[in-house]
Amino acid sequence: MNISIFGLGYVGAVSLACLSRDGHRVVGVDIDRSKLDLIAAGKTPVVEEGMVDLMQKVATNGLVSVTTDVELAVAQTDISLVCVGTPSAANGSQDQTAVLRLAESMGRAIAAKSTPHVVVFRSTLVPGTVEDVLRPLIERHSGKRDGVDFFLCFQPEFLREGSSIRDYDKPPFTVVGANHPHPVEQLRALFGHLPCKFIQTSVRSAEMMKYCCNNFHALKITFANETARLCAALGVDPFEVMDLVCQDTQLNISRAYLKPGFAFGGSCLPKDLRATSYLAKTRDVKVPMLSAILDSNEDHLDLAFDHVMASGCRRVGFVGLSFKTGTDDLRESPLVALAERLIGKGVALSVYDPEVHLAQLLGANRRYVETHLPHIGQLLKADLAEVIAASELLVVGLSDARVHETLAAHCRPDQQVLDLIQLPNRGAIRAPVTGLCW
Ligand SMILES: NC(=O)c1ccc[n+]([C@@H]2O[C@H](COP(=O)([O-])OP(=O)(O)OC[C@H]3O[C@@H](n4cnc5c(N)ncnc54)[C@H](O)[C@@H]3O)[C@@H](O)[C@H]2O)c1
Repeated sequence: MNISIFGLGYVGAVSLACLSRDGHRVVGVDIDRSKLDLIAAGKTPVVEEGMVDLMQKVATNGLVSVTTDVELAVAQTDISLVCVGTPSAANGSQDQTAVLRLAESMGRAIAAKSTPHVVVFRSTLVPGTVEDVLRPLIERHSGKRDGVDFFLCFQPEFLREGSSIRDYDKPPFTVVGANHPHPVEQLRALFGHLPCKFIQTSVRSAEMMKYCCNNFHALKITFANETARLCAALGVDPFEVMDLVCQDTQLNISRAYLKPGFAFGGSCLPKDLRATSYLAKTRDVKVPMLSAILDSNEDHLDLAFDHVMASGCRRVGFVGLSFKTGTDDLRESPLVALAERLIGKGVALSVYDPEVHLAQLLGANRRYVETHLPHIGQLLKADLAEVIAASELLVVGLSDARVHETLAAHCRPDQQVLDLIQLPNRGAIRAPVTGLCW
């Protein structure tokens, strides 16, 4: 294939080397003449394991050329990979100067082309950039239409500096955000042979997931480092601890807990986080990330509270009260906290939870609910249909097939549903359903 690569930094230079190694004809474009000269001389513009040898090798295959001329590069190729830098501006926002300027030039270049060009954005871009900013820009400067005369798509780059050639050859997966089959087919021809999944998604999801991946990596590193600081203060071996943590592939290194939902609660997570923060404080150890978790959890609870208050509904039915489905444990349940706050605002509540039976609540569990919801006995109903009938708005925090069926059978179009659990049968419920943040 004939490929142009814009931006010959870590991502662009490694892509140029690997694609030409794999037999593609590659035109490299950069505004930095010194990088082009190095590539033209068979040298690497970036320090990366394996790049010195690979650049020397590809210089002899005659498949690589370089230019500063955007129009020429677009005219000579079928597909462009955009790998220009998107650094931080002083205020923390993404500085898109390079990609915006390039999009204008590419628009003008596409105007002069008779075949449909594919533009693949590989630079990390804040969600919405391709469809809301770059597409109109390229359409304006080309006088042509995305999806008809040319094709835009977004393919996040996952390589890591230091191991970029290895990562190029063995990425975690290939993700392509596209609205049309043509660019997907082109990218499958380029990257489909790699030993990983090839996934097509929406452009926005692809843009966002790249941020999520990097944020998750930063979060993992910070988690390990905060843990290590605390371990050091306590005389515990942090490597042994983190090694043990990583050996749990059921709950720790797994998909568990990574699905959006309502705030967490229960008798363990909040109290253990509090104890960890307190312990760190007593040892003069700063663990700002761990200490911020409960605040963030509270913000999530606020979201549900604000939604109910803004709805104007004052007769509210809770479907679920315990801290998670399948238990009667009410201690630190976020639904109990939400109920307590709503009652404080004069909201009339009725509650259905098939696991919670007042007569059977014992010990700390009973004391907790009696402190936070002293009139629990009057709120609890044994019949979900009764709760539905009495409510203007239903807050669904219980994931149970029979409950979902009853909601579908009894909810009316004049009611509202706040979904905290990603209801699986949302379409079957006649009342309008709003997800907490989905
Ligand atoms: N470095 C990484 O490990 C990595 C990994 C994944 C994704 N990314 C993302 O990929 C993008 C590129 O990262 P990088 O580290 O390769 O950047 P870099 O700063 O090393 O290289 C960017 C290159 O773009 C060139 N450039 C700027 N304006 C240009 C223009 N108008 N036309 C042509 N070239 C132009 C610059 O001269 C420079 O050579 C960024 O969005 C980054 O977030 C980087």
